[in-house]
Amino acid sequence: MTMSLRLSALAIGLAALAAVLMPLPEMRPALAQANPAAEREDAMETISKQLRPLAGMARGQQAFDGQAVKAAAEKILAEFNRAEKLFPEGSGGGKSRALPAIWEQPDAFAARFEEAKAAASAVAKAGEANSQDRFQEAFKTLGGACAACHKTFRAPEN
Ligand code: HEC
Repeated sequence: MTMSLRLSALAIGLAALAAVLMPLPEMRPALAQANPAAEREDAMETISKQLRPLAGMARGQQAFDGQAVKAAAEKILAEFNRAEKLFPEGSGGGKSRALPAIWEQPDAFAARFEEAKAAASAVAKAGEANSQDRFQEAFKTLGGACAACHKTFRAPEN
């Protein structure tokens, strides 16, 4: 084999290798989500747990604590960021209450997540500013964001 032939053989070999390696990054999320329905249930449970003391403060059953509000709302925001990646197509059915509308109206579903994240962020900022008035407003918006998404995209409990 001449030098140039050997080089072109190498080039072909590299191209073939690249073609094999290319799909890997796209496959990784699927591998990381062996059970997305269970993972999103976990995320939603964590969100719900963090929301409880906030609801207590909003109703005046618990003393307002700006630092605690900020910490809880930031945790909720992080879980929303996690949860929104846990709805791959085809992961509904079985025990999941995720409705087909999630995959039929992906833009609307994504928009509900954006609203909920913005609301969680506003709650965190109200906590950081130690403003109970701003907290009351932002908390109402956050509660509305949970309800708005569940109404269209989550099946009722049976
Ligand atoms: C963008 C849509 C969306 C938003 C926003 C959202 N959820 Fe959910 N939530 C869902 C869907 C869809 C399910 C059903 C998931 C499944 O069963 O596969 C769910 C499930 C749940 C569950 C049941 C988990 C379980 O044990 O099965 C709880 C609790 C919950 N959400 C709480 C909340 C709270 C609290 C908020 C607001 C702070 C919220 N969610 C915001 C879409 C959303």
